[in-house]
Amino acid sequence: MKDIDVMEPQIDWDNLTFSHTPTRSMYRATCDEGGEWQEGSIIPFGNIELSPVAGVLNYGQGVFEGMKAFRTAKDRTILFRPEMNAKRLQSSAKRLCIPPIPEEMFLEAVEQIVKDNADYIPPLDKGSLYIRPVIWGTGPVLGVKPSRSYTFIVYVSPVGHYFQGEIPCLHIKVTNFYHRVAHKGTGAAKAIGNYAASLYPLKLAKEHGFNEVMYLNAQNENLVDELGAANVFTLKGDTLLTPGLSGSILPGVTRDSTIQIAREILGLDVKETDVTVDDFLTADEVFCAGTAVVICPIGRITTDDDSVELCTEMGPMTANFRKILKDIQLERREDVFDWLRPLDLY
Ligand code: PLP
Ligand code: COI
Repeated sequence: MKDIDVMEPQIDWDNLTFSHTPTRSMYRATCDEGGEWQEGSIIPFGNIELSPVAGVLNYGQGVFEGMKAFRTAKDRTILFRPEMNAKRLQSSAKRLCIPPIPEEMFLEAVEQIVKDNADYIPPLDKGSLYIRPVIWGTGPVLGVKPSRSYTFIVYVSPVGHYFQGEIPCLHIKVTNFYHRVAHKGTGAAKAIGNYAASLYPLKLAKEHGFNEVMYLNAQNENLVDELGAANVFTLKGDTLLTPGLSGSILPGVTRDSTIQIAREILGLDVKETDVTVDDFLTADEVFCAGTAVVICPIGRITTDDDSVELCTEMGPMTANFRKILKDIQLERREDVFDWLRPLDLY
């Protein structure tokens, strides 16, 4: 019998969903009162112990990232634009008064944990290894102030499609009742509290059969910000519109990649600008973009006054974007933008 540590993971690669499968290990580093991050290490995946007074538990002092490792057609493993996640985690950390992690340390941690869990990376075309770096204020704080110590953890999980039914044409609810983030709030940061704020509107939307919520800008409710877990795009003719990075939306890695593909490969006119609900309702194609969702068509948008069907199957340009992005990630197409970071696993 094999030793438990070298046993192959028992995973049904054909039926992966976007849910957590525990893997062998996680990475952990700490930052104590001096504000300097200490060298981290790989430890078995499992529960951690926290003081009930920890900053993250009481005041939501936490930030995170989401990224993926892929097994590619060249029979190797790559990370997709991890430097962007490193930089975004730094800017999220700054907004939440968390000591930023040096980029090299972040990249090293991500590489180490993917390598240690290499047998959990789905085979080509079966899914990806989702990587979740988190930083939490783990020191005790009673008054409202930053924690004095922090924990950085990176865990991973093999995942499949984010939405049920592979790549459905999403049915989206535009909410006039709830904002995800405040004007001048934490919208540009990947702060854990932003997601807590989105749970109730998402619950209501799902109860009415919607897949996701489209949030309006808190300062100008004519404008669209993003979905709860992805950025949004509308295409009309040769023009691709997406909400500009004015502080209330997450600067998505997939958003940036989509814009580059649109400009450099598809020759579209891209505008990062104010985008109204009406722009979405009257578009030729609408889609969302994010690490977890990849690129997914939006088939119907429902506001309080209107419900507009945009498509019943993925539009041709949305399909183009999705294919180009995935072909680059899986090395079926040249990495002309130098986005891939291959890992030496063997
Ligand atoms: N917007 C929100 C609120 C998200 O949670 C995500 C996912 O991370 C995105 C946009 C897309 O960002 P990225 O493409 O970096 O995953
Ligand atoms: C991602 O796309 O990586 C996200 O973080 C979105 C969601 C799963 C929180």
